[in-house]
Amino acid sequence: MIDRVQGYYGFTRIPFGRNLAPSILHQHHSHREAAARIAWCINNRAIGVVTGEVGSGKTVALKGAVASLDLARFTVIYQPNPEVGMRGLYDRIVTALGGTPKFHLAALAAQASAALAAEVDERGRTPAVVIDESHLLDHHELDAIRMLTNYDMDSTTPFAVLLIGQPALRKRMKHGVLAALDQRIAISYEMPTMTKEETAATSSTT
Ligand SMILES: Nc1ncnc2c1ncn2[C@@H]1O[C@H](COP(=O)(O)OP(=O)(O)OP(=O)(O)O)[C@@H](O)[C@H]1O
Ligand SMILES: [Mg+2]
Repeated sequence: MIDRVQGYYGFTRIPFGRNLAPSILHQHHSHREAAARIAWCINNRAIGVVTGEVGSGKTVALKGAVASLDLARFTVIYQPNPEVGMRGLYDRIVTALGGTPKFHLAALAAQASAALAAEVDERGRTPAVVIDESHLLDHHELDAIRMLTNYDMDSTTPFAVLLIGQPALRKRMKHGVLAALDQRIAISYEMPTMTKEETAATSSTT
């Protein structure tokens, strides 16, 4: 079936695949904008939010941005699915930075914070915590992320945080205690869907 589709449309590969190499991505406007903002956030240890409807190209833009980074200077900690909860996120942070996660949640949270700070102080590498599908984070989890970024009573963090998800995320962040996190967002980008012209232009890259 796939062969027939490919033959019929004259595609050299199946479009909308999940494993597209960064070099063959279609560099349409919102892709470039999102990828540039994500890379800026990581370079500047800032907090960023990228939202867009399902399939608007958020995850692909993230991959493009990560591919453009000098990986000797950054440690990207990617959490594809926040349904693992804060324990899962702290666990991933600690493991990605070479530690063995502690059992008790409070100790694990402190360990994750310390590991992020040590990555900068001791190894000179900037960690970037990237949470995809962030609209699935509940209030409590978003608050835990706010706490993670409350570093040293300083207004800046020694690492970057990127929340990527569907537009509902944006509304949730305006409420209550999360407004403090919202105010610290340096980059906020809503990915529009591709225009008709941009979609037509993809045929030259596919
Ligand atoms: N710049 C691009 N060049 C080529 N293909 C793309 C590009 N952006 C997106 N696509 C295609 O569209 C599909 C959907 O993109 P992506 O997974 O990034 O969307 P998403 O916004 O993360 O969606 P979701 O909200 O479901 O996670 C990809 O699997 C890919 O095939
Ligand atoms: Mg995605």
